[in-house]
Amino acid sequence: MRSSQTKLFAFPESARFARQIGRAMHVRVAPIRVHRFPDRETLIRVGSPAPARAVIVRSLDDPNSKLVEVLLAADALRRAGASSVELVAPYMPYMRQDKAFAPGEPVSQRVIASILGRNFDAVFTMEPHLHRIRSLTEVFPTRAVSVSAAPAIASWVKGRGAGTLVAGPDEESTRWVKAIARQAEASWVVGKKRRLGDRDVRIHFGTLPAAMRAVVVDDIASSGATMAAAIRALRSAGIKQVEAVVVHAIFAPGALTMIRRAGARRVVSCDTVAHPTNAIRVAGLFAAALKPTR
Ligand code: R5P
Repeated sequence: MRSSQTKLFAFPESARFARQIGRAMHVRVAPIRVHRFPDRETLIRVGSPAPARAVIVRSLDDPNSKLVEVLLAADALRRAGASSVELVAPYMPYMRQDKAFAPGEPVSQRVIASILGRNFDAVFTMEPHLHRIRSLTEVFPTRAVSVSAAPAIASWVKGRGAGTLVAGPDEESTRWVKAIARQAEASWVVGKKRRLGDRDVRIHFGTLPAAMRAVVVDDIASSGATMAAAIRALRSAGIKQVEAVVVHAIFAPGALTMIRRAGARRVVSCDTVAHPTNAIRVAGLFAAALKPTR
């Protein structure tokens, strides 16, 4: 499909991110209008007619209302004539509940993937938290693309100067941490993590390569306990400057304070979720992933 047949559609809070993608792809961005009724239902309006390929851009943090609204927008775009409706959700929620951890719980990951997969022709997200599955396509019944934040984070790490150590908090992050370190031409290490409670995390790094400075990288900081434990471990091992990078800035109340108190010299995030810590732009990576295939 040619780029002239593609248009991006943005909700009010995702307009800036969508414009950055639009500029990189040379495609236009149109607004999605949201009217909230007094009973808290929403009415969605899109411009009509719609292009052949419509791409909705919206991060799904604060997911419960945003999910419903993107589904309504997809329906509106198809009714307005779009033959393909895709979703760019830089942050994809509910990916961590990938099994019923206790009797009586849902497998939220599969529920959300199934709903989105049946309503969109393709879904693009960044660094979704996948633990028990290797690929999004195992749960999304549609084309599902996981865009890596590694190139953008690596370029930020490179800017910190030579001799920076890239540290991942747990063994699960090994492949990702290695990819960032390779692109940043830096050394790397991953810790051994034990979670004893929501806000009680222990991390041990073993023998560390000599470094003055370390950057802890993680896909998400929620309670902040993982990031804080990693920072404490690195500092008590003698690394003086420790900085924190997360992809998705889903900081629960008190998380940033906990991370800063652990000794983080700086906390930055990718701009998948709008937050004052945003310092690493990733729209260009989505633009590259969205390029029409021949
Ligand atoms: C877990 O494996 C993830 O990669 C993150 O480390 C985790 O979700 C962070 O959560 P919290 O900030 O609550 O420790």
